Amino acid sequence: MPPHTEPFTRNSRSAILAKVMNESSTAIPENNSINDGLMRGFWYPAARSNRVRGRELRTALLLGIPLVLGRNAKGEGFALRDACPHRGMPLSEGRFDGHAVECPYHGWVFEGKTGQCQAIPSLTARDKLKVDRVFATSFPCEEQDGYFWVHIPDPEQRNEKVPAAPRLPTFSDSYRLEHLEAELPCHVDHGIIGLMDPAHGPFVHQAWWWRKRSSIHEKEKIFEPIPNGFRIKSHSPSANSAAYKLLGVYGEPVTTTIQFVLPNMRFEEIHCGKYWFSSRTTVTPITASKCRIDVCAAWNAFRHVPFFTSILRFFGNLFVEQDRQTMVKQAEGLKYNPPLMLIDDADRPAKWYFALKAAYLKSKQTGQPMEHPIEGPTALRWRS
Ligand code: FES
Ligand SMILES: [Fe+2]
Repeated sequence: MPPHTEPFTRNSRSAILAKVMNESSTAIPENNSINDGLMRGFWYPAARSNRVRGRELRTALLLGIPLVLGRNAKGEGFALRDACPHRGMPLSEGRFDGHAVECPYHGWVFEGKTGQCQAIPSLTARDKLKVDRVFATSFPCEEQDGYFWVHIPDPEQRNEKVPAAPRLPTFSDSYRLEHLEAELPCHVDHGIIGLMDPAHGPFVHQAWWWRKRSSIHEKEKIFEPIPNGFRIKSHSPSANSAAYKLLGVYGEPVTTTIQFVLPNMRFEEIHCGKYWFSSRTTVTPITASKCRIDVCAAWNAFRHVPFFTSILRFFGNLFVEQDRQTMVKQAEGLKYNPPLMLIDDADRPAKWYFALKAAYLKSKQTGQPMEHPIEGPTALRWRS
């Protein structure tokens, strides 16, 4: 694949920029290899929004793209490529006055939201360069569920309309919201298939108070296709599952459903009468060899239980840490590209993930509707 030679931009700014460059300066092509298995054209959580405060600028990496994040005086978030379009100086090293970022190298000034250049101090009256036609690359940025979400455009689909950023489903006006995160030293594909892997539980998440290896038993669940993903049909959890043990105290039937949606989201919802628990786990590519798990959970149950949030955080951290440590070890094994296997049915969700990804990319290439790789409800059986 030839190197990508234009900046990723939301609309025709790149064309404008290219024109400006041709008119009055020389473009230095970007070198972005996009043959890396990472999915563009989606929103990704770049950072927790409480870490972007006041006039401070924060940095983040998404799909190998360095970003500078900030908040303007109105409190609106913005995301720019953390590289000045002049000579690549990180804009995060510059000054931000609540409206625009000034590059520390030659003082070019860029408006935060749009990236539009407002000043090039070195220009004289004789220069023809139109300052307002120069842009730092900006990305759509929205704040939702306590994250700064950044939309990474698909360079092939520049003019596609950007949908709203994902939102965690919630089912009442008041609820608690908590977050967890962990970095994994592997390609996002491994993070995602690990997330959906039903067979590692008894080995990775063993604990005397949770489950023993000997508790392995056969399970059957019905999976069904949904747009861009699949879900485990809503069911009553088994009496020894955590959801049942926790919510069973309310004495009403407990139902749970889990779904996976491209590019990287696993949703879990548990309902018990008017009580509910909802979580979303995303695995976000930081680079092609590093990703981050972000868990965002909301619930309206157990408000009377003291320390419930601390307890949940403790167990959540423990589980995520167990997964993280496993993947650190796995990354050692993967360093030398060993051949790998996916088996039925325990690895079927992983196969579906790869099939969904391929079908999605094919539909983008051909312009045809996506052919869903899962035809209808399918029962999967495995022991865990
Ligand atoms: S590198 Fe930013 S102004 Fe020159
Ligand atoms: Fe796990």
